[in-house]
Amino acid sequence: MRLTDCHNFADFRRLAEQRLPSPIFHYIDGAADDEVTYRRNTAAYEDVDLVPNVLNGVEDVDMSVEVMGQKLDMPFYCAPTALQRLFHHEGERAVAKAASKYGTMFGVSSLATVTVEKIAEVAPGPKMFQFYFHKDRGLNDALLERARAAKFNVMALTVDTITGGNRERDLRTGFTSPPRLTPSSLFSFAAHPSWAWNFLTKDKFDMPHLSGHVSEGTNLAVSVGEYFSTMLDPTMNWKDAEKLCAQWNGQFALKGIMSVEDAKRAVDIGCTGIMVSNHGGRQLDGSRAPFDQLAEICDAVGDQIDVVCEGGVQRGTHVLKALSVGAKAVSGGRFYLYSLAAAGQAGVERALGNLRTELERDMRLMGVSKVRELNRGNLRWR
Ligand code: LAC
Repeated sequence: MRLTDCHNFADFRRLAEQRLPSPIFHYIDGAADDEVTYRRNTAAYEDVDLVPNVLNGVEDVDMSVEVMGQKLDMPFYCAPTALQRLFHHEGERAVAKAASKYGTMFGVSSLATVTVEKIAEVAPGPKMFQFYFHKDRGLNDALLERARAAKFNVMALTVDTITGGNRERDLRTGFTSPPRLTPSSLFSFAAHPSWAWNFLTKDKFDMPHLSGHVSEGTNLAVSVGEYFSTMLDPTMNWKDAEKLCAQWNGQFALKGIMSVEDAKRAVDIGCTGIMVSNHGGRQLDGSRAPFDQLAEICDAVGDQIDVVCEGGVQRGTHVLKALSVGAKAVSGGRFYLYSLAAAGQAGVERALGNLRTELERDMRLMGVSKVRELNRGNLRWR
C-alpha cells in the first residue's frame, strides 16, 4: 500500500499500521477502557442526516472561518497531539508545514518533540500551543513565556487530564516515551526497519519544552498515563485556569469542556474559546461524544465564546454537520496522525487536501457557498 492509495481516513490508518511498530500504532489508535467513547465520537455523526437545498447555483465555495481571532482557509485544524517524532522523523515540522500550506491552524503540544521556535520558523500562519498544567510552576511559566516569545496565537489549556486514562492497549504493548526496548517491542521495531532506521539515525528523540525541567518522558521512560498522573497537578481548578488566562492575556481556550455549566464558567473567566472534547476517548470512557453534546453547549454560550468540536472527525460531512449545529471550527488528532505516520509532510498534505476536496464537493451538494449559510435547518436527527 502506498500514499497514492490513501483516499480516506481508513486508508491512512491502514498505511500507518503497516509503517509503525505496533506499540506506537496502538498508542495513537487506542483509547480508554472499552473504547466505547472513542467509537461513539465518530458514530455520533451518523445519527444526524444532512438535508440539502438544491438549485442554489453554487459556483465558488468559500469554506474559510474565523475562530479565536484566527482566519482559517478551511474549517478544520490539526488539534495538538504529543510525541510526533515517534510517528515520523519529521515530527511536528511536517504537520506545521502541511497546515500552513492549507492555510489552517495546528496545535503544538507541551509534549512536542520539536521546539516552538523551530516550528515557528517553518510555519508563519496561525499556531496554537497546548498547555499541560504541571506541578512544577517554574515549568508552567517557562512553557507560557516560550510560546509567547515564539508568537503562538492561541493558548489552549487541557482540562481533562488531571490523571491518566486507562489505556489498556498501552499496558499490553508496554508503550512508553521514550520507547522502552522489551523483547516484544524489539521484535516489533525490527519488523519495521525503515521506521527503526529513521528513529535511530535522524534527530534524536527529545521533548525539548520539558527536558530542562523534568526527566520523565525523555531520559526516563514512562507511559503517558504515568506522566499525567505524576507530573500534572491534580489540584488544578477554576482559579488556576483564570490566572493562566490572565497571564497569557490573549486568545485563550479550555480544551476538554463537556458540560454547559463548565462552558459558562469558561466565558466567566475570560476565555475566548472552548474545545468540546473528550480527548479522543482516551481519558474518561463512557463520556459523551463531542458532537452529541455540541448543540446544548452552542445554545448556552455560542454567542459569547468560540466553540470548537473536537474528535471523531473522519469526513467532510462530519465537519459540515458540526458547523451546522453551531461550531466555529472542527479539529481532530488521529485524522492527521495516521497520515503523518504514513508519509510525513506529504501524508498530512494529502489528508488535508482530501478533506478540502470533500468539503468543497459537499458544500456544493448541500447548496451552500459559505460556511455561515449552514444551520440546524439543514439537519435532521433520526
Ligand atoms: C494523549 C496525550 C498525550 O492522549 O494527549 O496521549
